[in-house]
Amino acid sequence: MLSTWLACLGTLQGGVHPLSTLDLRAITQGWGQPQVNKSVDGRPIKIGTKSFATGLGSHASMVWRLKLDGKAVRFTSWVGVDAEVGTRGSVVFQVFCNGKLALETRTLEGGEEPLFIDVPLKGVKELLLVVKDGGDDINYDHADWAEATIETTGATPVSVMPPVEKAEILTPKPKPSPRLNNPTIYGARPGNPFLFRIPCQGLRPISFKVEGLPEGITLDANEGILRGTTPTKRGTYSLNFIATNAKGKARKSMKLVVGDTLALTPPMGWNSWNAHYDKVTDAYMRKAADAMVSSGLADAGFAYVNVDDCWMTKKGDARLRDENGRILTNSRFPDMKAMADYIHRHGLKAGLYTSPGPWTCAGYTGAWQHEAIDAQTFAEWGFDFLKYDWCSYEGVATLEGRPRFEKPYIQMGDLLKKQKRDILLNMCQYGMDKVWEWGGSVGGHTWRTTGDIPPNNFWPVAAHNMTLTEFAKPGQWNDPDYLVLGWYAVGDGGTGVRATHGPSEQYSYVTLWSLMAAPFFYSGDMTRLDDFTKGLLTNPEVIEVNQDELGKQARVVRQLSDAWILAKPLANGDVAIGVVNPGEFDSKITFTKAELGLKGDWTSRDVWRMKDRGPLADKTTLTLRRKSSVFWRLRKSN
Ligand code: GAL
Repeated sequence: MLSTWLACLGTLQGGVHPLSTLDLRAITQGWGQPQVNKSVDGRPIKIGTKSFATGLGSHASMVWRLKLDGKAVRFTSWVGVDAEVGTRGSVVFQVFCNGKLALETRTLEGGEEPLFIDVPLKGVKELLLVVKDGGDDINYDHADWAEATIETTGATPVSVMPPVEKAEILTPKPKPSPRLNNPTIYGARPGNPFLFRIPCQGLRPISFKVEGLPEGITLDANEGILRGTTPTKRGTYSLNFIATNAKGKARKSMKLVVGDTLALTPPMGWNSWNAHYDKVTDAYMRKAADAMVSSGLADAGFAYVNVDDCWMTKKGDARLRDENGRILTNSRFPDMKAMADYIHRHGLKAGLYTSPGPWTCAGYTGAWQHEAIDAQTFAEWGFDFLKYDWCSYEGVATLEGRPRFEKPYIQMGDLLKKQKRDILLNMCQYGMDKVWEWGGSVGGHTWRTTGDIPPNNFWPVAAHNMTLTEFAKPGQWNDPDYLVLGWYAVGDGGTGVRATHGPSEQYSYVTLWSLMAAPFFYSGDMTRLDDFTKGLLTNPEVIEVNQDELGKQARVVRQLSDAWILAKPLANGDVAIGVVNPGEFDSKITFTKAELGLKGDWTSRDVWRMKDRGPLADKTTLTLRRKSSVFWRLRKSN
């Protein structure tokens, strides 16, 4: 009744329209749902010490488009971070009129008093309301538009759904002839178990040959899997892979560098977290391993199949560890060794997760005071990757300053090095104390640079991670979290959620992860990979840039609100560039060869379409739609 009455009222000419009476379904936000006259957590709206009876409770990053008829007078609102988060959270409110920034607040912190904003709307046809994170990440960014109203002499403002784009598959279908997609360099420690699946696209059966294979490693010629023991003699071994099928033959070499450094290129794989959360099971893990092979992800280079949190016993369980202190699993994981063996049989690698604290983030048993036996157990089970997540360690940490953050990782880093297995260490502590400055020195191969990536909003994470160029190098990578694409949040028979980024945005996501030399981990439902998502994940030229042997993260050439330009130097002298429009409107971006540091004549290739584009002009102007990008590989002409 009330809503019908409000809707009728809305069609009347003129009036003052509270934002919260409009159709809120068009709002996109980084966490939770928009709330009418409540904070995003459902409490009465309060900013600082001031309470409000009406308004809209939202969360960064928020975007809302409204159509006006040019007869609106003004938009007014109190804005700020809701008091429910205390002094945490920081946001920036923006109002765009007809595509131009009309108002931007300074960064508003949790606990601050509200700010009153008043934006004249005369002649405005398109109003865009935005809440950005305050430069950290979006955690605790509970943003209120309190007593927000649009005053108009014309028609009721109309809420506009975000533009829908056609999902165009840019990645060409793999050819039937073989294409080897192995990285050109690979690190392994002397005398440890060796396992490597040669990534190769093309019609199966493919028969594999390897020239220069060191003694102790054997080849399964039908599957293209190398197994055995890494040579004990340190040094570089040149392997030549040859793949032949009915349609042709391919060759590609790989330097096997036997020494102390692992992850000479960013690790690639799948992680269970955003797919299954606490519903993960042994069966899902096995299905993910099967799907990695059957979907073609393994042929493109994906290798790790990693279970995240929730495989072990949990707070409140009668027994957490056995009489020898060995960690026990929960009933969803009957046999971790058998699971790792299963993954290995595909030639893939297995990963798992724990915390240095007594409990993991989801309240399962952590490694605290059992670090040595846990590291040993993980190695005995056959795991090749450990994600070590700070979580409840906060409550038991004793030291101050940087040593406080370093201590648990030094300990686990050393323990992993002592195992007779190559085990990567993924430090997950959300970037605390500038982990990128010291993560490599404590044994981390990758370190998360931010909090969890908000589903459907990787932009703030990318904006931060892209500035950390100088800290990435072979064996040590900035980790901006997973590629959450396709279907995620499945498990327990649930149907899951489809990622809602538009297609252009998804291309930008993967483009940025490739250029940032980010660990390339998909975290979504492996059994429901549609062709569009597969195209995003398995483009061999996109992966080649990510996996490039030089191991450089792209440098930031430009980082503005409507234009990002990144340039990644590659081992053969090529330069991969990404030109990205992170904004909400079309953006005209001009760049020059000079600012990319290029001299002489260069040609460009469209990485996604795997197609040459011809000579690169001294000056290029592109008009990029909201959130879209181009990804080119530039090559010096002879
Ligand atoms: C978070 C971590 C996530 C996931 C989760 C598991 O701290 O950042 O990636 O691992 O814990 O509980």
